[in-house]
Amino acid sequence: MNILLFGFMASGKSTVAKILSKKLDMDYIEMDNIIEKEANMSISEIFAEKGEKHFRMLEKNLSKKLSDSDNLIISTGGGVITDEENIANLIKNGMAFSLMVSPENVIKRTKNSAHRPLLNTKDRKKQIENLLRERNPYYEKTGYVINTNIFTPEKVAGIIIEKFKGTI
Ligand code: S3P
Repeated sequence: MNILLFGFMASGKSTVAKILSKKLDMDYIEMDNIIEKEANMSISEIFAEKGEKHFRMLEKNLSKKLSDSDNLIISTGGGVITDEENIANLIKNGMAFSLMVSPENVIKRTKNSAHRPLLNTKDRKKQIENLLRERNPYYEKTGYVINTNIFTPEKVAGIIIEKFKGTI
């Protein structure tokens, strides 16, 4: 059984995945890192040179491949969730958690980051609010919801471990 971390950009998926990996002695993978390695390009380069549609195709292929994996902590990209086939493939052998975050915290946490192509827009605040509005229903219906605005990453990991251990 895998542990799946869903959530918006800057919701803390990678940080929590690393903590979980140590505490549970399980390997963790970052879907975006695998896509970058396989394409030999950064996510920003893929978006700029091949377009978002191409990136979504790579994301879809990887979700398919991961449906056969086991015993992994999988940190997903923030947009994986909007495709039903991705969700079906990933949750086939995974317990899903959704890390929820407020627009204010996303704005704060991404202030100095330039590696997220979807946020390189004129009005970043508006873009974050719009994407969150669109995606929150998907996060909410897919995973066990955890509010990262009120918990530290350590605490979030603790909640996940408790839930995960209770069901395996
Ligand atoms: C995206 C989130 C990013 C990355 C890509 C698209 C999204 O991952 O996959 O830039 O659509 O929300 P993180 O959630 O790890 O930032």
